[in-house]
Amino acid sequence: MSSITDADFEHTGPGRPAGYLLRQRWQPVYAAEELDAGRAVPLKVLHEELTLYRGEDGAAHIVAGRCAHRGVLLSIGIVQGDCVRCRYHGWQYDETGQCVDQPAEPKSFADKVRIASYPVEEYFGFIWVYLGEAPVPELPRWPELEPYGRFHVIELRKWNYFHDLENTVDDVHQYWVHKTGIYQDDGMAGEFPEITAEPAEFGLTQTSRFTNGFVRRLALLMPNTLYFNSGAGVLRGFKSFLWNVPVDDESHMMFFLFIAAQLPPDVGARVAAGVRDARKYLGELRPVDEIVRAVLSGTQRFDDIEDRPDQVLIEDGIVLLGQGVLPDRSLNQLGSSDAAIVLLRKLYARELAAVEADRPLTKFPTPDAAALARLDGRNPEASERPIQ
Ligand code: FES
Ligand SMILES: [Fe+2]
Repeated sequence: MSSITDADFEHTGPGRPAGYLLRQRWQPVYAAEELDAGRAVPLKVLHEELTLYRGEDGAAHIVAGRCAHRGVLLSIGIVQGDCVRCRYHGWQYDETGQCVDQPAEPKSFADKVRIASYPVEEYFGFIWVYLGEAPVPELPRWPELEPYGRFHVIELRKWNYFHDLENTVDDVHQYWVHKTGIYQDDGMAGEFPEITAEPAEFGLTQTSRFTNGFVRRLALLMPNTLYFNSGAGVLRGFKSFLWNVPVDDESHMMFFLFIAAQLPPDVGARVAAGVRDARKYLGELRPVDEIVRAVLSGTQRFDDIEDRPDQVLIEDGIVLLGQGVLPDRSLNQLGSSDAAIVLLRKLYARELAAVEADRPLTKFPTPDAAALARLDGRNPEASERPIQ
């Protein structure tokens, strides 16, 4: 009998079942364009302190967060060639984590010192890491989607990652929480769809069927990737991915990737460039986290949140942090419209029980581009609508 409970979904440190499950997949960890050659930055992923640096020849590498000598963060060190040198006493590590120089020690000591290093890839504008056991799986790729315009959004959220995972397959909240979105799109305003959830070989789908024939489908690719292409709202024409990557149990990073796969290439590229420019403007606005906490503390009304391009993140943030940073999910009373959340928890419970019992995990193959297209929502009016 498994001892896995809902509380186990939230704990992703090394040695915890959910930590093991998430480590068996490649995870995005950084925006590739924001890491210049010769630069090192600190990362925390799944509770592990890491050093991400780009060697002088342009290749990105990830090694342990701290120097083996006396524990200083290597991210404040000096990148030289493909190596990073500790700022404190100059120990130098290559991209495999092998210590290759200790200026104040005999050479034989360096040979005995090695820190952790991890496989790294760059794809779709992100730097990815694999923290799991060998063999290292292939990074999922969608070559058919590579030619299209795209943009990404990366956001730090200061609560447990499982909140966002559940929120992504919960279409009912869209009606109550968001001022913009499918429920405000033509033909769906003020209507509750019929919501169902089905298991799939990659994880699960949640389907919302509206009376006008519009069908929106969300796909959760186990364990922590969302895919959707609703054909409605501001993201009409964009294939959308979201990876929820734990930093630790009390925070996570959201990596959104939007690919303009159903827009003419010039339109898609223009929209994507416009959104990239908008980031500078967003950086000048009041921080999302500050507004979330102001509403939760009662100093600002939810209804007074200003209209801005990232208001969906603010609106979601309020109801997600509103559940608490690390709540007790076993107290939840789930209803029929929570079908996808019930299924998600069942899948996690099954996989974590397998980890606990040392049984093989389900493979959950990543859908290729054709399989993604079969998941896409259907909008009977889409072809009549001009693309804006
Ligand atoms: S702490 Fe890094 S070289 Fe001493
Ligand atoms: Fe939402």
